[in-house]
Parts: sequence; C-alpha cells; structure tokens
Amino acid sequence: LASIEVDVSSLAEGMSMTVKWRGRPVFIRNRTGKEVEAANATALEELKDPVARNANLDDDQPARDVARSAGQGRENWIVMIGVCTHLGCVPLGQAGDFGGWFCPCHGSHYDTAGRIRKGPAPENLPIPHFKFVSDTVVRIG
Ligand code: FES
Repeated sequence: LASIEVDVSSLAEGMSMTVKWRGRPVFIRNRTGKEVEAANATALEELKDPVARNANLDDDQPARDVARSAGQGRENWIVMIGVCTHLGCVPLGQAGDFGGWFCPCHGSHYDTAGRIRKGPAPENLPIPHFKFVSDTVVRIG
C-alpha cells in the first residue's frame, strides 16, 4: 500500500504536525528534552500497556521510551497513529494528566511517549512503519 514522505524540517523542538496516511491521522512530534526525560523516568511496571506497539520492532518489545521513539539518536521524534485505542476518537496533543495526548471522548490520558496511562483505552497509540530517509524527511508506510 501507498507510503508517504513527509518533510519535517519545519518542526522545531516542541512542535508537532498531523498528516493523513491511509485515511488516518498520524502525529509527528519533535519532543522536548523534558518530554523524553519524563517518559524515560516512568518505570515499565507503571504502564497499563507494557508493549511498545511499534510496527518497526518485534511484537514483544517493551514500551521503553526509545522503543516508542524513532530510535537511538532520534529519541526526540515520535510518530504515531492518532487514533485512540478505546473507540477511535482523535486525541488532543499536549494535554491530559501526563503532558502527552488526551482523548476527550471518554477521558484517556496518554503520556509523552503516547503510552496509555489512565482512562478506558487498552493500548498505547500504535506506531506505524516509518523511517527517516534523511534528517528531515520521514517515510510512513
Ligand atoms: Fe478515546 Fe474513548 S475513544 S477514550
């Protein structure tokens, strides 16, 4: 199926964009150092869904921050499908109790790594197949 290439050069630290891919929103965020730090400071035992849900990794990878990000050296970047894993609403960015994403439909709070922390959603926001094909271009799909 079709992949898309997205120019992320306009995203300074702390900025996000939403693109459409296969009819769904994909969130791309250049996270701040603080956001990465907050995610790293969270023990895996505290997570409701301890699995990375990252299509680029093995299915059983734990949901450590690096496994939720674009990987070593690009931990600041996060790319996720912006569809709440409860009933499919689109969460709001930089909102909720954990400073990540918040789904207003029934109150699911995701952290700065897009991991579900509170509310009815059962799983972390899913990470699609993606790759940085250069420093400023991400291919999704
Ligand atoms: Fe997001 Fe229900 S659809 S909390």
